[in-house]
Amino acid sequence: MKAIAIQNPGPDYALVLADAAKPEPGPGDVLIKVAASGLNRADLQQAKGLYPPPPGASPILGMEVSGTVEALGDGVSNCEVGDEICALLPGGGYAEFALAHAGSVLPVPKGVSLIEACALPEVHFTVWTNLMDAARLRPGESVLIHGGSSGIGTAAIQLCAARGHTVFTTAGTQEKCDACAALGATRAINYREEDFVEVVKAATGGKGIDVILDMVGGDYIQRNMSAAAVWGRIVNISYQSGMQASVNFAPMLMKRLSLLATTLRARSNEEKAAIRDALLREVWPLIGAGKIKPVLDHVYPLREAQDAHARMAESAHIGKLLLLP
Ligand SMILES: NC(=O)c1ccc[n+]([C@@H]2O[C@H](COP(=O)([O-])OP(=O)(O)OC[C@H]3O[C@@H](n4cnc5c(N)ncnc54)[C@H](OP(=O)(O)O)[C@@H]3O)[C@@H](O)[C@H]2O)c1
Repeated sequence: MKAIAIQNPGPDYALVLADAAKPEPGPGDVLIKVAASGLNRADLQQAKGLYPPPPGASPILGMEVSGTVEALGDGVSNCEVGDEICALLPGGGYAEFALAHAGSVLPVPKGVSLIEACALPEVHFTVWTNLMDAARLRPGESVLIHGGSSGIGTAAIQLCAARGHTVFTTAGTQEKCDACAALGATRAINYREEDFVEVVKAATGGKGIDVILDMVGGDYIQRNMSAAAVWGRIVNISYQSGMQASVNFAPMLMKRLSLLATTLRARSNEEKAAIRDALLREVWPLIGAGKIKPVLDHVYPLREAQDAHARMAESAHIGKLLLLP
């Protein structure tokens, strides 16, 4: 089969179309004929040699696909050959065929095309488990989603809006803020022009935000504590502005805050299956009802993976970038 290979892993990596062995499904695996593969920012880190795949995962890039079930490993009972599905993968998505564990496979929701469905798994697994499992978001609470125009952000805004939360978000241009508002954000803050702490404090009468989903880190660690409400929960899924910060922890004590952080990729198949079950129950019906939509920025042929990476590196996109084999 054809797959993307990483030449010269490091800051000047090159992505090229190459031959690779077609994977074979082991027990519990689903072999997928890929219709589309999703880009995730972690792919850029992996290509630079900074984010190795977990043990046992394919070294090929790609953490989500949509496609058709080609073959089943022993013990798989939740899908059949020929089914149209989308799936979270530990790796191997930038290819014509990919393996998913059966517990990470979801049907294509009603009203969504097979290719669009590729934009769903990684963002919804991540958003659900961080907002609901980690931060324990409750009905009626306010949320602040940093990076609202990202793949993750566009899913988080829609999920929270569909569930009736007041949604604040940050983004770096007016065009991105407008897109976030169109997705349901109550207030989109251009972080290059406004201080999000001041905006959320003013908009909540000084109370602050109940749950903050952050992918920025750096100086946002302190500023999130300032923006949080009493009993607030702050959950980090990334630290793009830096893993280290000098922090005054007094607000943690005074406001009884929780500071959380999680990654998805290295979790067990069982943990991912539990998230998949929650998505099927709580999120897929909202997608089927048209209340949450996949947000596609641009679709590239697989051989142009390098161009897709360049667009993500520039942060020129709003929503998801996909590759078509
Ligand atoms: N922990 C996990 O399990 C997990 C899972 C999936 C993703 N992630 C992480 O989540 C992040 C989003 O992933 P993605 O694939 O959706 O990537 P993406 O679409 O490339 O999003 C990155 C976003 O970060 C925003 N950003 C950068 N600096 C910012 C700042 N100072 N303030 C506000 N926003 C800022 C960018 O917005 P501007 O262009 O407006 O600056 C951009 O929207 C990545 O860092 C990824 O590694 C973590």
